[in-house]
Amino acid sequence: VPALEAGKVLFFPQLRFELTPDETRLLRADVRDEKSRNISLRNDGVLAGAAVQGEEQARLTAMIGRFRAQACALIDAIAPAYKPALRLAPTSFRPTQVESRVQSWRADDRRLHVDAFPSRPNRGERILRVFTNLNPNGEPRVWRVGEAFEDIARRFVPRAKPYVAWQAKALKMLHVTKSLRTEYDHLMLQLHDGMKSDVDYQRNSPQVTMPFPPGSTWVCYSDQASHAVMSGQFMMEQTLHLPAEAQVDPTASPLAILERQLRRKLT
Ligand code: SIN
Ligand code: FE
Repeated sequence: VPALEAGKVLFFPQLRFELTPDETRLLRADVRDEKSRNISLRNDGVLAGAAVQGEEQARLTAMIGRFRAQACALIDAIAPAYKPALRLAPTSFRPTQVESRVQSWRADDRRLHVDAFPSRPNRGERILRVFTNLNPNGEPRVWRVGEAFEDIARRFVPRAKPYVAWQAKALKMLHVTKSLRTEYDHLMLQLHDGMKSDVDYQRNSPQVTMPFPPGSTWVCYSDQASHAVMSGQFMMEQTLHLPAEAQVDPTASPLAILERQLRRKLT
């Protein structure tokens, strides 16, 4: 837990998600609807983003649901103290080859970033993620992992555009955001965009390349651990949210780090 809350990526080299032979046949790019980025299982059990019907759809739903249960059990084992405060988010299956995706710089996850979502303000709530590589052809999922959040904040907060409260209210009124974008949310988006748009930072900032082999699992706070995905295909991902106050050490959260640096409340 201290490593996780310090923004490290926990690596479980031999923790695989077992597939049945029938499920192995779902490892194809065309199970995804071209209009969606990922296939996701919503909390109400509805599958979104899939291009398969009938029996295959039921099999895909069951497979993603089983991953959800196992990912949640892993978090309960690693961090039992989180259990009463965790909030489940959708589970995703990512069957697209990373190298072949064409995207704008802002949407391009091949650039180092911390996760922050323009339409979904979270007021400091954490984004905890469990990933597992399912690739049947031995291909790793290759990530780059960057510098500590404190260093990212020190570098990019001074360059951030100021928060404008009336703009945040307008974005909410226009339903661009699902709730009010707080100054914390604004800053996290500024860090995300500042990192991704800085070509020199992408190339020259402290980083390590980490190939996650098939049959391995990794866990991190993706709003804190700087990451980029360079290659790979077929991965499962579970997101869980946790209020920063429910961390074992709330002073290690991005919210606390940013508030210390700026010496004011951000939510
Ligand atoms: C991301 O959160 O940036 C994507 C990670 C991945 O697809 O491996
Ligand atoms: Fe990301």
